[in-house]
Amino acid sequence: MNTWEYDDPFLQVLERPDQMPSGYHAPVMPEEVVAFLRPASGKLFLDGTCGGGGHTGLFLDSGAEVLALDQDAEAIGHCGERFAPFGDRLHLVQANFAEAGEVMDQLGFGKLDGALLDLGVSSHQLDTPERGFSFQREGPLDMRMDQRGSMSASVLLNTGAEEELAKIFRDFGEEPRARAIASRIVEIRGDHPFRSTIDLVKAVESVIARSGPRHPATRVFQALRIAVNDELGALERALEVISARLGPHGRFGVITFHSLEDRIVKHFFRERSAEWIDRPEWPEPRRNPNHIFRLLTPRPIDASSQETQTNPRARSAKLRVAERIETDHEN
Ligand SMILES: C[S@@+](CC[C@H](N)C(=O)[O-])C[C@H]1O[C@@H](n2cnc3c(N)ncnc32)[C@H](O)[C@@H]1O
Repeated sequence: MNTWEYDDPFLQVLERPDQMPSGYHAPVMPEEVVAFLRPASGKLFLDGTCGGGGHTGLFLDSGAEVLALDQDAEAIGHCGERFAPFGDRLHLVQANFAEAGEVMDQLGFGKLDGALLDLGVSSHQLDTPERGFSFQREGPLDMRMDQRGSMSASVLLNTGAEEELAKIFRDFGEEPRARAIASRIVEIRGDHPFRSTIDLVKAVESVIARSGPRHPATRVFQALRIAVNDELGALERALEVISARLGPHGRFGVITFHSLEDRIVKHFFRERSAEWIDRPEWPEPRRNPNHIFRLLTPRPIDASSQETQTNPRARSAKLRVAERIETDHEN
């Protein structure tokens, strides 16, 4: 059994908002990120998830030039103000990190020396009721990280087929009562549409009785958030795109917060770091045509106990890092 499947900070924060550090967002594993990625003057770094700017600030402080992306307009606004003194050493763009290649082409950038993805939602997003991420705060059922998107949680809940909703709750929340909850949602929306976070909380509570420390809507909220933002699809695309943009010895770090994300990163880095591959039907191993990385973290890096004491969000964080080797191919 996976012991941290549901230790998503999203869930932890909702359960213990009092324990969160104040401010927009506290960056996780700041020292480890700097030690592995080695930002420095003269280097070009991509922060694909700038959020409150915790990691972007570290890269800027090192003297590096930084391309910082976030799909959330509020994060871009916040970082624009926070880092105004850095002038044109910071390039801030509201974009999905899966579009990093297009953004780099538009800005005329060459190869990256380092890149970071710090996945999931920021504390600020969770703490803002109007964004609809939290089942503990009444707000519209939105959950879009990119406010320009058309697929909010309420649109999904009010229009999605019962089977689709059940699959989302099962695949992205590993919710055992996925079918029953989807069926209840379809029944309720026949009467009145879902509008607020509390509408959904009540629907789930009518299927699963409250017992134990975890709220019954926990998994459903996590699943919806992942689906609304196509979080796993964007991650898969970004891994390919950003890897292709790293120069020789460029380092790529990814911080994940639950096993669905971590599994994707682990497999990607492993597959791209293997020099040889073998299959039962082959007479002998062959060179891996996708070998582009040296894996710097055969096991993921966890936050220190010191950090997890002050930032509960760091408890489920896992950092994996790979370094580009020199290859003939572009991808
Ligand atoms: C955990 S926070 C990052 C915090 C940041 N590292 C800091 O130290 O303040 C994640 C951020 O990534 C953004 N995000 C999530 N998925 C994204 C995607 N596919 N493309 C761009 N931004 C994304 C969210 O909007 C959020 O602001």
